[in-house]
Amino acid sequence: MTEGENSSTIEALFDEDRHFSPSEEFRAQANVASPTIYDQGRDTESYWRTQANRVTWKTPFTEVLDWSGAPYAKWYTGGKLNITESALDVHVQSTPNKVAYYFEGENGDTKTVTYLDLYKEVCRLANALSELGIQKGDRVAIYMGMIPEFPVALLACARLGAPHSVVFGGFSSDSLRDRINDASAKVLITCDESWRNGGRVALKELADVALSESPSIEHVVVVQRTGATVNMVEGRDHYYHDLLAKASDERNAEEMDAEDTLFILYTSGTTARPKGIVHTTGGYAVGVATTHAMVFDIKDGDIYWCTADVGWVTGHSYVVYGPLINGVTSVLYEGVPQFPDKDRFWEIIEKYKVTQLYTAPTSIRTFMKWGTEYPMKHDLTSLRVIGTVGEPINPEAWMWYHEYIGNKRCPIVDTWWQTETGHIMISPLPGVTTTKPGSATVPLPGISVEVVDDDGNPVPNGSGGYLVITHPWPGMARTIFNDPERFKDVYWSKFSKPEENKWIYFAGDGAKKDLEGYIWLLGRVDDVMNVSGHRISTLEVESALVDHQSVAEAAVVGRYDPTTGQAIAAFVTLKGDVQGDDALIVELRDHVATKIGKIARPASIVFTDELPKTRSGKIMRRLLRDISEQRQLGDVTTLANADVVHEIAARAQASQNTVSTE
Ligand code: WTA
Repeated sequence: MTEGENSSTIEALFDEDRHFSPSEEFRAQANVASPTIYDQGRDTESYWRTQANRVTWKTPFTEVLDWSGAPYAKWYTGGKLNITESALDVHVQSTPNKVAYYFEGENGDTKTVTYLDLYKEVCRLANALSELGIQKGDRVAIYMGMIPEFPVALLACARLGAPHSVVFGGFSSDSLRDRINDASAKVLITCDESWRNGGRVALKELADVALSESPSIEHVVVVQRTGATVNMVEGRDHYYHDLLAKASDERNAEEMDAEDTLFILYTSGTTARPKGIVHTTGGYAVGVATTHAMVFDIKDGDIYWCTADVGWVTGHSYVVYGPLINGVTSVLYEGVPQFPDKDRFWEIIEKYKVTQLYTAPTSIRTFMKWGTEYPMKHDLTSLRVIGTVGEPINPEAWMWYHEYIGNKRCPIVDTWWQTETGHIMISPLPGVTTTKPGSATVPLPGISVEVVDDDGNPVPNGSGGYLVITHPWPGMARTIFNDPERFKDVYWSKFSKPEENKWIYFAGDGAKKDLEGYIWLLGRVDDVMNVSGHRISTLEVESALVDHQSVAEAAVVGRYDPTTGQAIAAFVTLKGDVQGDDALIVELRDHVATKIGKIARPASIVFTDELPKTRSGKIMRRLLRDISEQRQLGDVTTLANADVVHEIAARAQASQNTVSTE
């Protein structure tokens, strides 16, 4: 295999033939119980026209899809709406006292937020932001912990038509600064601190560092979470509670075109500069509402819990917009699963009688490691559907989830999608689809997916290749903020044939179709790692390492890790006569944490005099992956410096400095 060779050569290592069909009992009560839904989905536009009724329109749309400007799509053209009217106003009319969020603080404090409470708070913050000068189209950056004010912040921006740009609260000052600057955000909403794993994360302090180099920010809104004393700059920084005390709890929702931007969310690319993925209003609203209702079989009395942080796309779509449009009651949990003990998730499920749990394979593998005694201490019989997202779930983890959490009774929905797709694309429908442990199964109705070879031809069942999406879908990313060329280049150039007006979206994932046509995801094919379900670019980590004064060159790969899916393995060449020792390893890991965030810290660092390179000077990461995973080394004949790999392999074996990324 040569560098960059396609994944169709990835062999299926095992055949999974366990099948789980929905039980009669489940099917009898399911929202969608007939496979005819897939037939309806075949007429894509008629299907998505029908689903659009889930959303409240101020002015009806005239056309479902306008693909004439491909690959820049327009959905529901002519339609006018404000997504917060579907998420709030309609429920305030019908069920004002229904609970929107049961908030559970990490320390055990709780808060119940009804739809009416949420509506009023969103209107207040929208009015406050408006007083600070925010108008339709202005970008607002958000950097917060998982508290009720986090969804409020997103919704207040949406109420005004001001695109929000959320930066995950685990990211560093530098990451925050770069994202604020790329979007030229005018206001930042943050917290004094957030609680995490019993400790405090000094969000405002981190934000202050970013703000010293973020000239576009005019005002900062600070939510008090811990009450810590923080630096407040006169005239620029305002406490959330002070602003809200003065603000009216009514605010008209700005009329948005279906194609007006709802939000920007940054995601890793293969270059160091993150991509600001742009989502618009109408298609996104329909897409998240439809998929949320169908995949999780949402019912009126449900208590739904998605454990994702609102800082990621899963939080945007399935903690905030999807559940609220569907008017469901959600649990919002602030902290980590091991605080104060390793049964916190199961305690929460028992306490609130949670009916749907949506979490990540990396968490499931962690729970497996901790042991079954923790879930077994609690009554989990309220659960009806359990889901996963973020990375492939290995069959062993799937079976554990099925047995110990789902009590062999709950359908598992393994949902494949991306920041760029906006909503779930491949997933079982729990009342219809027979599942197989480890497979995301088949595309949802109205979604067209293929697995293709290097030339873009569909592979036969039983073979592997690249995952592509062959027809537009409502929640698709519309562009990369300020960089439409990059959007076209990254996602639409590999397999499209513009001269034939054929546009194919390349997801960057490898996949195989089994003999029954089921889809199995095989991970990223580009230089993006997937650590605990979070996409991190090798290049960003390399840049952070090279940024350190002692480092000359760095290569980073994702290696298999039983808990986090992939762990970051770094290979570093030092400058001049700097000696690599344990102290420097600690320093470099800290440096990466400061530059990018803790989640990007390498799990292991190996010092080497040289990196393996091709004659054209390209670092051969494939070999470094072989070394990291202690595999037989692949072909080294194209290397300019073949000896070096054996030396690195010996050092890698000797170095046991593996540490968790948490
Ligand atoms: C991976 C998260 C296998 C995949 C919603 C994708 C998955 C990337 C699954 C997107 C799944 C997500 N099975 N792999 N069920 N779900 N992925 O943008 O590599 O943070 O391209 O969106 O996660 O990550 P992102």
